[in-house]
Amino acid sequence: MERAREWLRGASTIVALTGAGISAESGIPTFRGSGGLWREFRPEELATPQAFARDPKLVWEWYFWRRGLIAAAEPNAGHYALAELEARTPHFTLVTQNVDGLHDRAGSRNILKVHGDIWIVRCLACGRESLDKRLEFPETPPRCECGGTLRPGVVWFGEMLPPDVWMAAERACVEAEAMVVAGTSAVVYPAAALAPLAKSAGARVIEVNPEATPLSGLVDCSLRGKAAEILPELVA
Ligand code: APR
Repeated sequence: MERAREWLRGASTIVALTGAGISAESGIPTFRGSGGLWREFRPEELATPQAFARDPKLVWEWYFWRRGLIAAAEPNAGHYALAELEARTPHFTLVTQNVDGLHDRAGSRNILKVHGDIWIVRCLACGRESLDKRLEFPETPPRCECGGTLRPGVVWFGEMLPPDVWMAAERACVEAEAMVVAGTSAVVYPAAALAPLAKSAGARVIEVNPEATPLSGLVDCSLRGKAAEILPELVA
């Protein structure tokens, strides 16, 4: 831990990458761990364009449920620690796979949401995107003013990540002197390629996860534990 704290203190350009694990202590289920969403539901049935085309009502019911969970959740000490680290680092970028918006609520500023945002809706017909925080809509699936069907503004399996966001995430990893990877199983690409990219570009990479992941053998320091406990210590 001491080495990792040194690396962060000495770095003026830092990138952080987070996954569902950083929101676990806010009461939001992860996808793959024990109690994870993919234990209860099948991703193919809820998180693909085909699933939405087949049954938009079912997919929206799942997203309304998640929106309810997230609306009732609060950022935890892990989210706040990353906002604190950003406040004192000249060049800081937070790349998150999470769509829950808890980093925004914890005060993080420079956030790249590579898998979109659960509070954004996008019209299938006119393409218009808007922030919509409602937990229920007059009808399901909700409709755009143009009459088109609205979908969640998130990236589903098999879909492209937003190109400008993805390029900014890659650039942040190439430029970083240090990287903190917290709460991701590192099995979903292309996000899972970001830590190896930062490492190959010379960054010191620190992982925070209660379990080992495919990254653990590659990183400079793999801290076993919960983000809400380790991150505050790491950035203290
Ligand atoms: N603190 C830190 N890490 C934790 C904690 C915690 N308290 N609890 C669990 N974890 C770790 C787990 O060990 C696991 O490695 O968080 C990770 C969660 O992994 P996933 O559930 O696979 O979440 P994530 O890596 O974000 O998934 C990537 O997959 O389903 C898609 O689009 C979805 O963005 C998601 C992507």
